[in-house]
Amino acid sequence: MPLEKATGHDKKLQDRLIEGGEIPRHIAIIMDGNGRWAKRRGMPRIAGHKEGVNSVRDIVEACAQLGVKYLTLYAFSTENWNRPQEEVSLLMRLLLKALRDERDRLHQNEVQLKAIGDIAKLPQDVQDELLDAIKMMEKNSGLTLVLALSYSGRWDITNGVRRMVDDIKSGVVRKEDITEQLIGNYLSTRGLPDPDLLIRTSGELRISNFLLWQVAYAELVISDEYWPAFRRKNLYAAIGEFQKRERRFGLVSEQLSKTNLGRLEYVERFLKSVAKL
Ligand code: IPE
Ligand code: IPE
Ligand code: MG
Repeated sequence: MPLEKATGHDKKLQDRLIEGGEIPRHIAIIMDGNGRWAKRRGMPRIAGHKEGVNSVRDIVEACAQLGVKYLTLYAFSTENWNRPQEEVSLLMRLLLKALRDERDRLHQNEVQLKAIGDIAKLPQDVQDELLDAIKMMEKNSGLTLVLALSYSGRWDITNGVRRMVDDIKSGVVRKEDITEQLIGNYLSTRGLPDPDLLIRTSGELRISNFLLWQVAYAELVISDEYWPAFRRKNLYAAIGEFQKRERRFGLVSEQLSKTNLGRLEYVERFLKSVAKL
């Protein structure tokens, strides 16, 4: 079954965004602020994680409808293992439930699921469910959804270096072969393009050990919303911000195709109307 299209006002917003400029090919999100969202409401932290699953569903669907090709979600970091045992175990149960509840819908929407991180550290039932869901969706041709689980950028690089040293020792790779591209091939994101847009929710201005190598030229957008409150209109605003940026990749403005001022005004108007929602 093909992906359900947006309808009504939402469809209009999506059309305006597509008209306004480039839709990022790869969006990466640091989904932060679940605990604070819950605390504000006098609820336990896990209530924020639960509501966060609803945001994931909304954002995945909106990305697929907009034609985003890759969406990488930072769901659990290497450092998150050091949280109180009870929170870690509730998070693992919630992850298992979310995988079970969402897999059919994701599959119907042609989503291809992937995971990056030290997956072997996850509880066995979570690993089994995750690998089953990945297998089920491997032939899908829609949005690629990458879950970063037990992930950190330094883990990724360390793991890659270890495997590269093995290949050097066994003669598969020579020192002269080491290029940026080769290094990229030893990372867990092998085969995925680098993120164009990195969004962090909850107003924090840091990378927190996410895709360190891969975000070299990503545009950063920080949203003040806590993740459980971050829904598609906030995504549209973040993409609008992205469309206003000039990505220079180290060059000077004059070397790039001229920024179209008419388009900038168009995006400004779009952002104003989204801010009113
Ligand atoms: C993000 O929300 C989810 C995870 C890191 C698993 P937090 O749990 O970090 O919530 P805050 O940042 O403490 O509010
Ligand atoms: C980053 O959030 C990790 C995830 C969103 C999974 P954290 O809440 O763990 O990051 P810090 O501790 O604020 O840097
Ligand atoms: Mg946090």
